[in-house]
This record gives sequence, structure tokens and C-alpha cells, in this order.
Amino acid sequence: MIFTVAIDGPAAAGKGTISRAVAARFGFAHLDTGLLYRAVGAKGGDPVAAARGLVPADLDRTDLRTLEAGQAASRVAAIPEVRAALVDFQRAFARRAGGAVLDGRDIGTVICPAAEVKLYVTAAPQVRARRRWLELGGDTAPKSYDAVLAEVRERDARDTGRADAPLRPAEDALLLDTTELTIETAVQKAIKAVEQGIGQGRA
Ligand code: C5P
Repeated sequence: MIFTVAIDGPAAAGKGTISRAVAARFGFAHLDTGLLYRAVGAKGGDPVAAARGLVPADLDRTDLRTLEAGQAASRVAAIPEVRAALVDFQRAFARRAGGAVLDGRDIGTVICPAAEVKLYVTAAPQVRARRRWLELGGDTAPKSYDAVLAEVRERDARDTGRADAPLRPAEDALLLDTTELTIETAVQKAIKAVEQGIGQGRA
């Protein structure tokens, strides 16, 4: 079966958790496309050369999940040649046999506009910043909540404001606002949307 689930949205909205749960429930492969941009940002040097020369082992670095790596990723992600270098890999992944879930910023709008199911997962910046801050250790985190909120806002502004593939929902995306939803409820809604897509013969 060829079936693509595109999950987009800003940082710390719950995309990763939802993507992993959907992939596990349906036996689909999962690609966190943010990791590609994080790996390019972490390589240093010329970002276009880094994107063109990206190899799977680059995604295994252990320092890709930090806030700093996220900021570096969003800077290199604004470069059109970097984005272009990563398109074919993402599209091939999306159409692999057995189904695929891709999460990112432009999956439903640019990478897979024909995805069978598109979700846009979002939440208020304060809620997303609080989740990130708690993940970092809360009161023992190396950064204050206010500093994390400032970074979330900065990254949102860069991702929504860039000219090439800005973050925005696809017109036919199902909107999942997790500001007041538990992650369990959000996952259930996402699974229901995929079940409906499969039931409607989109597979
Ligand atoms: O999702 P994650 O926080 O790992 O993404 C890091 C950065 O990579 C984002 O802030 C965004 O600038 C960029 N990105 C992107 N397109 C994607 C995935 C991530 O531009 N499909």
C-alpha cells in the first residue's frame, strides 16, 4: 500500500508524538524531516554543500535535539538550495511501499501536496514553550521559561516568514490545536483521520 500522512506544524506542538503513534498504529515508516535540517545546520561549513552531501549517518548525531540545533536548523532551512537538495529523499520516503508518516513544516504544502491525509498540529506559543521548558528539566532547566518562549517565538517568526516553503497549513489539512487537548486525545483524533482516509479508499 502507498499511503502518505503529512503532519506539519510549529515546534513543540506535539507533531513528533502524534507521528510516532500514527506510524506505530498503522505499521507505517516515520520520517522526522526536522532532523534533516538539524543535521545540515550541525555540520557547519557551507549549508548547501552539507545538504547535498547529507548521508544517513549524519542523522545519528546525539546533539541534534537541542534548542541550539533547532535554531541552526531554522536558519539553514530558509535557504532555497538547501530545501531543494532534500526534496527527492523526502518524496521517495513518502511513496515507499507500506505507508509513511512525515512530519515537518512543508510536507502537506510542498513535499507531498497529494498526501492521502494531512494534519496541521499547533498550540499556543506559551503552551509549546512550557512543554519544551519542562522537557529541559523545568526549574532545573539550563534556561528560563521566558528564554525558551523567546526562542519558540523567534523560530515561529523565521519559519512562517521565510519566502520559500513557509510554515502554513495546507488548505485541506485537518487542524489539531493541542493547546487544550491532552496528547492522548490528539493522537486519537489523528488516528481517526487516518482510518477515515483508508476507509475512503484513498490508499
Ligand atoms: O521540527 P524541528 O523542530 O526538528 O525542525 C527544526 C527546523 O527545521 C524548523 O524550525 C524548520 O525551520 C526546519 N524545518 C523545515 N521544514 C521541515 C522540517 C523542519 O523548514 N519540513
